[in-house]
Amino acid sequence: MHPDHPDITADMWSPIDESIHKNRPVPGSIITVLRQCQDVVGYLPVELLDYISEGMNLPSSDVYGVASFYSLFSMEPKGRHTIKLCLGTACYVKGIKEVMSRVENQYQVKEGGTSEDRRFTLQGVRCLGACGLAPVMVVNQDTHGDVSSDKIINLLEEYK
Ligand code: FES
Repeated sequence: MHPDHPDITADMWSPIDESIHKNRPVPGSIITVLRQCQDVVGYLPVELLDYISEGMNLPSSDVYGVASFYSLFSMEPKGRHTIKLCLGTACYVKGIKEVMSRVENQYQVKEGGTSEDRRFTLQGVRCLGACGLAPVMVVNQDTHGDVSSDKIINLLEEYK
């Protein structure tokens, strides 16, 4: 019986079931199943983890353990765009904290979280290796240097 979940649509169940079915006999394949299911749904809701542990015949504590250990997996929904703000020393000195507050207030999103409209996921990260451009923001694959709390909103408005 498939659990009800607003983010898991009817057509997603067939690739999920297929992944479980194919991998069930393979020892140590839980990472593969979690990866494939996350590709289908976008993240791993708790209801899906329960369904996977049942299907794979594994204790749910094991499945939760794997899902929370690897940073590749997310148990929270992700935004359409991921904003990474560098909290390394050079960026810190150049005022990244102010930029962070501006983004948090403008889009009602907390560091480490996702805005309610799922537009942005906001992450504070360690030095991105581009200190010459401090303060640095990366949105998806785009690097933006010398960002300030004044110009950041204009930049982010490009990402719908
Ligand atoms: S400290 Fe931000 S890029 Fe190095």
